[in-house]
Amino acid sequence: MKFFVDTAEIDAIAELNELGIVDGVTTNPSLIKKSGRDILEVTKEICDLVDGPVSAEVVATEADAMIAEGRKLAKIADNIAVKVPLTWAGLKACNVLTNEGNMVNVTLCFSANQALLAAKAGATFISPFIGRLDDIHLDGMELIQDIRTIYDNYGYETQILAASIRSVNHVQGCALVGADVMTAPPEVIQKLAGHVLTDKGLDQFLKDAKAANIKIV
Ligand code: E4P
Repeated sequence: MKFFVDTAEIDAIAELNELGIVDGVTTNPSLIKKSGRDILEVTKEICDLVDGPVSAEVVATEADAMIAEGRKLAKIADNIAVKVPLTWAGLKACNVLTNEGNMVNVTLCFSANQALLAAKAGATFISPFIGRLDDIHLDGMELIQDIRTIYDNYGYETQILAASIRSVNHVQGCALVGADVMTAPPEVIQKLAGHVLTDKGLDQFLKDAKAANIKIV
């Protein structure tokens, strides 16, 4: 499963990138607002830092305007994935931008039928939002599983990019049901390394190393 980082914070992306675990980045207007940066400027910096796809989202609502914005965003770098919302206009824009050779991430997906439409419109990525479904007492992971089944039934190549991930359990669930990609905030990715028994075991090993005066270099 590929790991994308869901943030527009350059320092956080750079830190995770040092481990070689960043396969891409996703941003959205809320994350750009949080960064306090200009969208074109910060997106360019992210694209320079990371080799994989960097999603940058349009803010227009009509298809023609989305296409114009998408073309502008795509000019930032070769690794831009233009992000469009899963609306009728967004699907139109997806089809046009895909046919022009761009990567397109269709976002705000909350149903399997929406994901089916996005695949038919040629999306590179479909972004089902797990956390926001869980927030309203629906099962976000079940949606990922349903989309996996449908895409496999028909051989769609659109990649399932599980989004709105809030916990380490979400990450494990995505890997178990076969999401192609998951995008999570840096804090969630960092938490994946933690385990209480790792801390306890290391504490004991370090005590014993000190007692035995073990020195390596
Ligand atoms: C993904 O592309 C979205 O930017 C993101 O995962 C949304 O997450 P949220 O529901 O926590 O805002």
